[in-house]
Parts: sequence; structure tokens; C-alpha cells
Amino acid sequence: MTRNERLIFERSTPGKTGAELAPLDVPAAPAAQVLGEEFHRADIDGFPEVSELEVMRHFTRLSTWNYSIDAGVYPLGSCTMKYNPRLNEAVARFGGLGTDHPYTPETLAQGCLKVLAETQRCLAEITGMDAVSLQPAAGAQGELTGLLLIRACLSERGDARRHILVPDSAHGTNPASVAISGYQAMHLKSDPRGCVDLAELERLMSGDVAGLMLTNPNTLGIFETDIERICELVHAKGGLVYTDGANMNALVGVARPGDFGVDVMHLNLHKTFSTPHGGGGPGSGPVAVKRHLEPYLPAPVVEEAPGGAIRVNFNRPRSIGRVRAFYGNFGMAVRALAYILAYGPDGLRQATVDAVLNANYVKERIRDCYDLPYDAPSLHECVFSDRRQAARGVHTGDIAKRLIDYGFHPYTVSFPLIVPGALMIEPTESAGKSELDAFIDALRSIAQEVEEDPEIVLKAPHTTRVARLDEAGAARKPVLRWKPQPAPRAD
Ligand SMILES: Cc1ncc(COP(=O)(O)O)c(C=O)c1O
Repeated sequence: MTRNERLIFERSTPGKTGAELAPLDVPAAPAAQVLGEEFHRADIDGFPEVSELEVMRHFTRLSTWNYSIDAGVYPLGSCTMKYNPRLNEAVARFGGLGTDHPYTPETLAQGCLKVLAETQRCLAEITGMDAVSLQPAAGAQGELTGLLLIRACLSERGDARRHILVPDSAHGTNPASVAISGYQAMHLKSDPRGCVDLAELERLMSGDVAGLMLTNPNTLGIFETDIERICELVHAKGGLVYTDGANMNALVGVARPGDFGVDVMHLNLHKTFSTPHGGGGPGSGPVAVKRHLEPYLPAPVVEEAPGGAIRVNFNRPRSIGRVRAFYGNFGMAVRALAYILAYGPDGLRQATVDAVLNANYVKERIRDCYDLPYDAPSLHECVFSDRRQAARGVHTGDIAKRLIDYGFHPYTVSFPLIVPGALMIEPTESAGKSELDAFIDALRSIAQEVEEDPEIVLKAPHTTRVARLDEAGAARKPVLRWKPQPAPRAD
């Protein structure tokens, strides 16, 4: 039986309590006096009055409603929802690493600083870049930081440019970061292979274009095979190349953006390097740069001083300044470094190869059921469209809802935008063959249902506690706070 859960406020019974305190043996002091006037609010009412057991059961039940990467396949394309090894968590809780204060003097914090310096070194080696800053707290903040570095470098050359080229397959954060950094995004269309249209790039790349912001492999999961030529074209006109490295799960240990000619990029530690995300954050979006952009990196910089000690260098006159408190989300660097060192070079390469294999396996096994708009070799993810199912009135969102009934988290719906009705699937290396087969069987079975009985898909999900929600309403008019209901009128 599925049973909805009332809010804890709605379970309240006046006078009930979860804690029994010993009788007061001192004079009672008014709350305002204890807390201070400024913290005391008399207008708060409606606190839930519940027993300890009710609280326990309520939250335990709610916790079982969550779908998580620990529960099963989480094929959210472009999100790289890979397993977060428990080893990372154990290391992040080591005394010293888990409890050190960011204001600990440099000489006493050498262990933590060494973790940061080592993480920077590993990420530079993995990306083929020269220097790394761990300050940005998310992929999108890494993008903004990278664009500010481009601006700082060009400004110093006295080269004021207005535009950044962004391919039409880009993640939404790319044009948003361009706008926030003060540039204007200029759309670059893809060619029929789903890659950058070289002729169009050549046409648009002018002295007014500061650079190109490119994701490789792109959001179709396709590797930009002309990447070296693309970099040459941009550099020839004085621009710089930014790579969105959120899809590095397809490249780590196999290919390095720094070797393609890229000037600056960001990484998502909370994707590629297995640190938690999707509500479990916080994230981390380090930026990696080639030597010519290094002077502009956010200050302070964690670096090795002559003699081997690690120091925090604030003397950075050309820096764009701080983008985040202290050194970024330190705990994420610890987890990522634990992952990198535990896997080692061969393990990291194997993870990449497995991620690519899994995406191709899914693609090959469902291509007879779903429309594949760009039939190029996939890397870490594959993108189908709902074109065939749409002929029966069923769209990608309906298929995703039905997948929930089969026990899986949905794939990414309706993205990338260049594929109408997209089903974007990224299984990652975490899924084993039997799990992948079950996921594939579910997608095949849904395609069959669409043929035989579309209504079952259109009305999905059937097994959840709440049926289909008004998603547009929830997004446009969210109700984020419980308010006490007015007491019913006596008449
Ligand atoms: C390709 C790509 N770029 C950038 C981002 C932004 O990363 P974040 O969500 O950490 O800001 C994402 C995240 O989904 C992404 O998939």
C-alpha cells in the first residue's frame, strides 16, 4: 500500500513533547533575557508538538523515499552521477583533515596545504594544464572564473573584445556565465554530425571575439574530433579557448585538453572525481590554466615554496581576486584526491574506458526502439529523441516518469536543446552489466508499452506516493514554506 506522509507540523498534538527535562531548580528566566531581545520572536507559532518516536519514524520513512546513487542506476545525462566511494568519506573525516580551521597558521597547517597542493598537481597532470585553482565552488563558478581570467589577460594586452562564442549544444550555464562575466554570448551552430561547424566558426571568429567556450566531448556525448583545428582558428584571431570540463569522465587518463590547445578549463570534482552532488554537495569546480593565464588566477594561491614547504601566496598583483572564501571547499579536494590516489593512473583510465563502454552498450541495445538523431560514436553519454513515441502522443517526460515505475531514476529530459524531445543517458562506470541490462530492459519495455497501450505511459508514475505533479506550477509558483492553517470557523 502506498501511503502519503503528512508534514511533521500536521502531525502535531498540543502538549506533546519529545523530551522530558528535569524540573527546574533555578528561577526561570524569560526567553528574551536569555537569547537577547534581537533574537527573541514572539510571533512564532505552530511548532510541531510530537513525540520522539513520531519524529524518528517520520524522518526515517521520508529517507526511504529518496532515490540515490547508493540505491541504483542514476543515469542523469550530463550529471555524471557516479558512486561516491566510502573511502573518500573516511579520509575526509580523518582528524586534522576534517577538523582543521582555515585560519590555522600556515606552519601548523602543512598537512592540509599539502592536500591542496597535491590535488592541484594531480588535476594539472590529468588535464595537461600548467596551474590549478581550487577556489570555485561549482562548475558554473569555475566557468565564470575562467572567463574572468580571459578578460584579465586580454585587458592587460589592451584588447577589449565583446563576444564569446558558445555552441548551440552547450550546457545552459555556459551562456549564463558569459553574460555574468560581462561578455555577450554568440551562438555557434553545430554541423549535421553534432560537432562545431568549422566554416561557421571561421566566419564568426573576429577580432571582437574574446574566445570560444566549448564542451568536449559535447553534450551529445560526441568528441569534437577537429578540436586542434578549432583551437588554431580561435588563436589565429587572438582569441582564447575555454573548455567546459564537466564531461571529463570521458577523457581522464586517455586524453588531455591541455594537449589539444585549450587555454583554460574547469573541472567538476562533484562529477568526474566522485565527490557527492545532487543535493549532497557542496560542489567544487576548479579552474585549470596554461602558463599565460596563471598570473591572473584567484588569490591567494597555494604553492610550494623553495625548500618544499607549502605556502599561501597573497602577493598576486595581477590576480582577478578572490572568488570564494579561503581555499574553496576543502573537503571536496580531500575526497577527490583520495579517489585519484586510490585509483592511480591505471584505475582512472579504466574508469573512463568503462564509462564509455557502458554508454555505448546502452546506445546499441536501445537504438532499435528509440530515434538516434546524431549517430556518431558516443563517449560517456548517448542522446536519443522521442520522435517515434511522439507519433503516439508520448513524449520524453512521459517515458522518464514511467521509468520511475520500473525502479530507476529518470535520465535527463529535454536536454540538450538541439535535440527536440531528448532522452539523455549517462550510465557512468558505476553500473555493472546486470544493472545496465535491467535498465535497458525497462526502456525497451516502455517503448513496447507506447506501441500497445500509450495511456499507461502517459499516466505514469503509478507506483509513487504522489502521482504526476503540476511541474510548471511547482516551478513558477513554488510553495516553499508551511504556514499554519487558519482555524475552521465555528459557524
Ligand atoms: C556540461 C556542464 N557544464 C557545466 C555544468 C555546471 O556545473 P555545476 O552544476 O557544478 O555548476 C554542468 C552541470 O550540470 C554540466 O553538465
